[in-house]
Amino acid sequence: MSEGQSFIRPNLIIEPLVDRFYAWLYTVAPVQAAMNLNFLQVPLLESYLQSPEAHVLASTNPELRGGYFVGIEEARKDEVKALLDGIRRDRADMLKLAQAVADAEDAVRQSATGFDLTPLYPKLPPELAGLIELAYDTSNQASVHFLEPLAYQPGVYDEGRQSVQLSLEDGIERPFILSTPRLPKPGTLDLHIPFHHQGLQELFSARLRPSNLDRLSDALELDAAGRAQLSAFLTDSPSLAPDRHIDAGARIRYFGHACLVLQTPEVSIVTDPFISAESGAAGRYTLDDLPDRIDYVLITHGHQDHIVLETLLQLRGRVGTVVVPRSSRGNLVDPSLRLYLEHLGLPVTDVDDFDELTFPGGRIIATPFLGEHADLDIRAKQTYFVHLGGRNLWLGADSSGIEPALYRRIRAHVGKIDMAFLGMECDGAPLTWLYQALLTQPVTKRMSDSRKLSGSNAAQAGDIVDELGASEAYIYAMGEEHWLGHVMATSYNDDSYQLKQVEEFLDACATRGVKAGHLFGQQEWRW
Ligand SMILES: [Fe+2]
Ligand SMILES: [Fe+2]
Repeated sequence: MSEGQSFIRPNLIIEPLVDRFYAWLYTVAPVQAAMNLNFLQVPLLESYLQSPEAHVLASTNPELRGGYFVGIEEARKDEVKALLDGIRRDRADMLKLAQAVADAEDAVRQSATGFDLTPLYPKLPPELAGLIELAYDTSNQASVHFLEPLAYQPGVYDEGRQSVQLSLEDGIERPFILSTPRLPKPGTLDLHIPFHHQGLQELFSARLRPSNLDRLSDALELDAAGRAQLSAFLTDSPSLAPDRHIDAGARIRYFGHACLVLQTPEVSIVTDPFISAESGAAGRYTLDDLPDRIDYVLITHGHQDHIVLETLLQLRGRVGTVVVPRSSRGNLVDPSLRLYLEHLGLPVTDVDDFDELTFPGGRIIATPFLGEHADLDIRAKQTYFVHLGGRNLWLGADSSGIEPALYRRIRAHVGKIDMAFLGMECDGAPLTWLYQALLTQPVTKRMSDSRKLSGSNAAQAGDIVDELGASEAYIYAMGEEHWLGHVMATSYNDDSYQLKQVEEFLDACATRGVKAGHLFGQQEWRW
C-alpha cells in the first residue's frame, strides 16, 4: 500500500492522552491538570493498586456507571504500577505545583483578613512565584488569580505528557474516560507526540484527500512497526457521503448529543462537535457526513462532552474558526478555553455575551448561559443565537432556566426564535464528581449533592420556550446515544426523572401549540 493513493478508514479514531489518561480541559490546562493529577489521578491509581479486583468489578457494575474505578484487568497491574511510578518520577514538579496551589489558597483563607496583601506574597510557596496575583472581591473575600498564559510556558505546561492512541472503532464501548487510563493493546498505534503535531492534521486530512503510507509515515515519524500498524488504518477509497453539502436553501442535521450541523450553500456551522466515526452504522450521521469545510465550530462550555478533543483533532485543518466562551481570567475553576485550544493548534476566537459574528446570509450572537456548573464561578459558557437561511435558531446546550426573565432579555436583543434546542439533563452529577480535585476546601456530601450539574427541568424549559417565543423546541444534549458511552456514562431508563420531565415538557408544548421533539440518533430539517 506504499504506492498509490490511500485514505484513512472511516472508523479511524484518536484518543488524546496525558500520562495515559484521556485528555480534556481539566487534564490539559496546566494548573488544573496538576490539581487533577495530584488530587484525583494519583490517588485513583494508588487505590487500584491496593485492590485491582474491586476496581474491575465496580467498573463493570451498571449501578456504579460513571464512577471513579479503573477498568484494567488485574493481570496488567504491573503496567499500572509502572505508570504511577513514572508519574511520581517525571511529574514531580507538577505534583508539587498542585500542593503549592492548595497551600496558597489555604494561606489566603487564613491570612487575608481584609488588610494589605503585600506581606502575604513572600509566605506563599515558591512554585507560584510570578504565576499569581492575590486580590479581594467586593465582599472582602480574597482569592488567588493565575496568570494563565505564563502557566502555558515550558516548565509548567509539559507537552511531554501528551500522546495519542489511534485505533479502529469496533463498536464495543470504550472504558469511561475520567477513570481508566489507556494502555497499549493489539490494534492500537500509540504515538508519543504532542496534540498539535502536524502529522495528525496530515493523517486526518486523508479522510477527504488522498495521501499514501509513505507520506503519512514520514509525517507521523513512524518506525517499521508503526508503519505496519498504520497501513491497517488505510483504505484505497474514501467513504464520504455524497449529500454532505447542499446547493440551495438551508439544512440542520442532528449528529447526536449537542452536535448540530447547520448549513447553507455559503456557510457551515458545527456545534459542540462529538461525532461518531463508525461508518455505515444505522441511525446516525458520522464524520463522513460532515461538509468538507467547516466555517465555524461553536463551543458552548468546557464540560468533557461539549469540547471533545477526539473529534476536534479529526477536524483540525478544515475548520475556519472555533468559537469558544471567554473565561473570567485566572480563576482556578474557570480555565481559558481559548488558550487550551490554541495550544492544540486550533484556530480559536473567544466571545462574551452578545458578541456578534457575521457571515454571508446570517450571523451568530453569543447569548448568556445560566447554571449547570454547580454554582461555581465559571464564566466560560455561552448559549448561541444563529440566524441562518432566514430562520432564528437558539442553541441552549445544558443551560438551565433558573431565571425566565433572562430569556425575555435575550429575545429583546435577538428577536423571536423559530427553533430552540434545549438540554434537559435535570438531575446531573453532584459538584464533587467533576470538580473534586480543584476544591481546596472540603465540602460536605450534603453540600455537594445540593449543587448539581443540572440543566432545565420541564417547568424551566417551558419558561424558556415561552419567553423566547419559540415556535419549535427540540430536546438534545442528553447523552443518550450509546456510542457516546465512554464519555457520558449515562444510565437512563424509562422511569428516569429526566426522561419523565422530557415527556412532561413535550406534553406542555403540545398544549401550547409549540412543535416539539426529543432528538435521538439522527434528524434532519430542510427549508
Ligand atoms: Fe454541561
Ligand atoms: Fe452536557
